[in-house]
Amino acid sequence: MADSVDLIIRNARLIDGTGASSTQGAIAVADDRIVAMGELGDSKGAVEIDAGGKAVAPGFIDVHTHDDRALLVDPLMAPKVSQGVTTVVTGNCGVSLAPLRTSERPPPPLDLVSPDADGFFADFGDYLAALDAEPAALNALCQVGHASLRVEAMDSLDRPATPGEISAMRGRLEGALEAGAIGLSTGLFYAPANAAPTSEIIELARAVQDAGGIHTTHMRDEGDHVGESLEETFTIGRTVGVPVVISHHKCAGQANFGRSTETLALIDAARQRQEVSLDAYPYIASSTTLASGRRLGASRVLVTWSTPHPEAAGRDLNEIAADMGLDPEDAVDALMPAGGIFFMMDESDVRRILAFRGTMIGSDGLPHDEFPHPRLWGTFPRVLGHYAREIGLFSLEEAAHKMTGLPAQHFGVTGRGVLEPGAMADLVLFDPDTVIDTATFERPKQPARGIELVVVNGRVVWRDGASTGARPGRAIRRGAGSSP
Ligand code: ZN
Ligand code: CU
Repeated sequence: MADSVDLIIRNARLIDGTGASSTQGAIAVADDRIVAMGELGDSKGAVEIDAGGKAVAPGFIDVHTHDDRALLVDPLMAPKVSQGVTTVVTGNCGVSLAPLRTSERPPPPLDLVSPDADGFFADFGDYLAALDAEPAALNALCQVGHASLRVEAMDSLDRPATPGEISAMRGRLEGALEAGAIGLSTGLFYAPANAAPTSEIIELARAVQDAGGIHTTHMRDEGDHVGESLEETFTIGRTVGVPVVISHHKCAGQANFGRSTETLALIDAARQRQEVSLDAYPYIASSTTLASGRRLGASRVLVTWSTPHPEAAGRDLNEIAADMGLDPEDAVDALMPAGGIFFMMDESDVRRILAFRGTMIGSDGLPHDEFPHPRLWGTFPRVLGHYAREIGLFSLEEAAHKMTGLPAQHFGVTGRGVLEPGAMADLVLFDPDTVIDTATFERPKQPARGIELVVVNGRVVWRDGASTGARPGRAIRRGAGSSP
């Protein structure tokens, strides 16, 4: 290596992201790359840091986000870089900020990324160009949302798309893939997409296959019919020959508690014949928009935002209903458009799913919520501190693998997610003995403890509990690998 480099972190526990046991040593960065690891002798860094035996891992890849607009309006991305996240995957659950030409407020859940029509980009390439022009602190991999395509192509969403509408959507999808989108997401659970038959998704997924992209899905059903939904997902992947990712896998509703043994067995069997992966967040509560009937199956609901009743944010739905003199279902109608947190999972399912070999970590954080689910600020440190260290669900190396090497592999990102000479310098320095989430359902906007230094493309973006102001993030185009 060169005798003088930009940054050397010495005396570190190096966790390389592959799941292999950690090693002691130093790591050197020149420009935006890792240039050496191990014993570095007397080479000098312009900046030298003594890690004091603490861990250095590849920066975390948050595979499930709704950060499409947050990247532009809150480019320091503190909720994520404070956790050690250096790359986010956007456009999940069928919802993406591009491509969508519209003049009206979009229907829920598209309002999760932008409450008004102006926020959307008609052209996917223009969206990526906007990220290039005003870079964020971290990198982004961007998907196209099926519901966004539907809202543009169809005059009513409560029916299957016609062949003409499918070809219009496919044309828009192909354009986006050409511009660098990494794949297509669906949210078949939600009203704008629920009437789409499997065949509609198959036709669109063919464009993804042609481009070598991926398909992620918030499945049609994560509760009573979760098994059928898994089969639908496998069918799409197998018919088209495209890798599928099951988003935020869960068994929702008390009647389905314990069924993760069954769902993971189905996933395991499918993985013998096709490429299937999944992600999860480390909490027993979900969060999305409020809709009639959605609270059923949840033991408790917290309101995260409400346009007509902003004062409801952070409060329990039952208490709000009592104050309004309404039953909870009518209170939901009064609060909408609104969002909520739904306690509807079993801790043993959450643990079984997190521990499953193929499970990646995705926060599913909702950055524009007034009173967000704590997963927005807490997901990654919670997996490392609570589930790895305190509970012993897996080793620290395995936990890191689920956030680094594994997602890089499934999402086709080369030169990131691993520590090796030549890889991009996306790094996190953290204290394995103290790292922990502090965001709670009561106080959700709290940075984690124990994340000491975060580096994106060779530049420090987070240090000593604060953003440095640097914005070295890149919009990574599909297939671009580690090149800028
Ligand atoms: Zn979702
Ligand atoms: Cu989501």
